[in-house]
Amino acid sequence: MTGETGHKLRGDYSRMRPDYTVDQEWDAYAPAQHELWRRLYRRQESLVPKYACPEFIEVLERLDFGAGIPRFDVTNEKLARATNWQLVAVPGLLPDLTFFEHLANRRFPVTVWLREPEEFDYIVEPDIFHDFFGHAPMLFNPVFADYMQAYGRGAIKAHALGAIEMLARLYWYTVEFGLIETPKGIRTYGAGILSSGGEIAYCVDSPNPNRIGFDLLRIMQTRYKIDTFQETYFVIRDFGQLFDATEPDFTPYYEQLRGREPHAPSAVLATDKVYHRGVAPQRAA
Ligand code: PHE
Ligand code: CO
Repeated sequence: MTGETGHKLRGDYSRMRPDYTVDQEWDAYAPAQHELWRRLYRRQESLVPKYACPEFIEVLERLDFGAGIPRFDVTNEKLARATNWQLVAVPGLLPDLTFFEHLANRRFPVTVWLREPEEFDYIVEPDIFHDFFGHAPMLFNPVFADYMQAYGRGAIKAHALGAIEMLARLYWYTVEFGLIETPKGIRTYGAGILSSGGEIAYCVDSPNPNRIGFDLLRIMQTRYKIDTFQETYFVIRDFGQLFDATEPDFTPYYEQLRGREPHAPSAVLATDKVYHRGVAPQRAA
C-alpha cells in the first residue's frame, strides 16, 4: 500500500480481509502502549473542556476510555445503541473507495497501531489515537452520524464523477478541521483538531488563522495544508446546517466548480462571512 503522495504506508496490510478490515488484537498491545495512550488522553482531556464542542465533551465523559487503549467491541455496543454506527479495525489509510464504502454503511475505519513516544506531538499518518479519540465520540451525535453516512454515499458518486478532490476538501474542513458556534463561543468538532495537542487551542485562540462562516461551494474550491496548522477554519452554526447544506445532489455543483482555479488556503473573499481575519505575519499571498 502507498499513500496519496506515494510513500510507503506504515500499517501491516498482509493479513486483512478484502474490505481491508482486520482484528483489533487488543491483547497484543504492550503495557508501554497503554501508558502512552493514557498520556495522550490526559493531555487532550485537559484541553477539551475549553475547546471542544459540548457534544464531544459529553460523550467523552460518558465513554470514559482514558484508562488505556480502548477495545473496539466495547465501544461498538454503545455506538450501536446510540446511532447504529460501528468502528472497524484497519491497518491504516485505505483506498478512497474502500473508505467511502465503509462510511456509506455506517462503519468507521479505525487504525490499529499507536504512534511511538517520539511522535507524541506529531504523526504523519493517522493512528489509533487520532481515529478513536478524534472521530469515535462524534459518531454518537445522531445528526453528525447521518452526515458521515451521507458523505460516504456522496463520495462514491463523486468518485464516479471525477470530483473527489472537491469533496475531499469538504471532509477536511468539516470532519477533520471544523469549528462550530456554541453558547460558550467558537469550539471545535473536527477530529484532526480534537486529537492534536497544539492545534486544539490554536484554532480557537490564535489570531493567526482566518475563521470564516461555513459555505459549501467556497469550501469545495479551497485548497488545504496537510503539514501545518490550518490557515483558515470554517465555522458552522450547528450540525443541522451541515446536514441541510449537503442534502442536495452535488452533481450541478461539481459542474459549476470544475475548471475553476481553487482558492489558496489563506484566502479571504469579499463574499466571506468573516468571524476573524487572520493576521499571520509570514503568510504568503
Ligand atoms: N448530497 C451530496 C451529493 O449528492 C452527498 C453528500 C452528503 C456529500 C453529505 C457530502 C456530505 O453528492
Ligand atoms: Co481523521
